[in-house]
This record gives sequence, structure tokens and C-alpha cells, in this order.
Amino acid sequence: MPRRFSARGMVDDRAAEYLESVSSQLERGAAQAPFLILHGPPGTGKTTTACGILMACLEHRMGHFEQASSMLEAVKDEFGVPGAKMATLRGTAVLAIDDLDKARLTEWSVERLYEIVDKRHMDRKPTIVTMNQTVGAWVKRVAAVADRETAFAIGDRLADAENVVIEFSGRSMRR
Ligand SMILES: Nc1ncnc2c1ncn2[C@@H]1O[C@H](COP(=O)(O)OP(=O)(O)OP(=O)(O)O)[C@@H](O)[C@H]1O
Ligand SMILES: [Mg+2]
Repeated sequence: MPRRFSARGMVDDRAAEYLESVSSQLERGAAQAPFLILHGPPGTGKTTTACGILMACLEHRMGHFEQASSMLEAVKDEFGVPGAKMATLRGTAVLAIDDLDKARLTEWSVERLYEIVDKRHMDRKPTIVTMNQTVGAWVKRVAAVADRETAFAIGDRLADAENVVIEFSGRSMRR
């Protein structure tokens, strides 16, 4: 987890229930949960909330943070053979994927992303995604650069009605 976010443990009030549910389950072992989607303009507190949730999960020694672009770079470095990195991303107890819409996607990386999202969705593993755009807007963009069916399949899972979606708004807290 980036150092900037590892000190504070702040979580937006609207995500408190999600955190409480996941954290109380982790106390007893593994947790199941829908996805948590945090979207909105820069500087509004999405990464802060994602990391705040992970900090609580790390008290139970579970929680894995990934910047979307470096996550997909690392997967690419496995030279096409699904390896340890993919296994971790698909199987880790709690995963945060930060800045999903900032990752430059290729046909190949969209397929890997599908494999991660689909597996975690099937297993109901707690997964937190942050992005500036809405899922709908992002999927349209992805469909233009990669296989449309795969893009829509990822979008469908991210837009599952069961998911918790929180829109962040207002001006950047960096300024
Ligand atoms: N509730 C809060 N109160 C005060 N400061 C906050 C709060 N939440 C976040 N911040 C601060 O605001 C800044 C921006 O927060 P953060 O990085 O979480 O935004 P973001 O939504 O992830 O932005 P981006 O879309 O650019 O990644 C950080 O310096 C963070 O410490
Ligand atoms: Mg952020």
C-alpha cells in the first residue's frame, strides 16, 4: 500500500457498513462480499477509503493493494503463462484495485482482467475498485480497444446490482 495512505486509516462513512461486514467475517476466517466500487473526480478520497478498509483487513493479515496499471504490467511479465501473480490476484482474501480507468489496456490485458474479476466475482471475494469514471463509461472505452464481449463481461460483473457503489464528488482535497 502506498505510504501516503498507510498512516491514516480513514474510511468514508458510506463505506463503513462494507468494512464492518468484511472485517467481522475476517475475524472468523474468510470473508464474502459483493464488490465495492468507488468512483468520482480526482482528490475526493477514493484511494483513502480503499486503503482505510485494507488497513482494517490487514489487522487480520489479509488485504492486497494494487495500482491497476502496475498490476497489469506485473501480470504481463509472467510471459503469457498464468503464474503466481495471477493466482494471488484471483485468490487473495481482499483485493483493492486502484485507478482502474488509468490503466492502458490491450486486448491481452483485458482478458487477464476478466479472469481476475470473474474469479473474484464467482467466489464473492471482497474486491474494491476505484476509478474516476463510472463503470458504464469505462466499459464503453474498453470495448473500443479490446474484445467487446470481454469488456462487457467485465462491466457486467462490476455493475452487479448486489455491488456497493459510492460516488465521490466535490472539489479535490489536495488543493
Ligand atoms: N475525509 C478526508 N478528509 C480530509 N482529507 C482527506 C479525506 N479523504 C482524503 N483526504 C486527502 O485528500 C487527498 C486526496 O485523496 P485521495 O488520494 O484518496 O483521492 P482520490 O479520490 O483517490 O483521487 P484520484 O482520483 O486522483 O486518485 C489525500 O491527500 C488525502 O489524504
Ligand atoms: Mg486515488
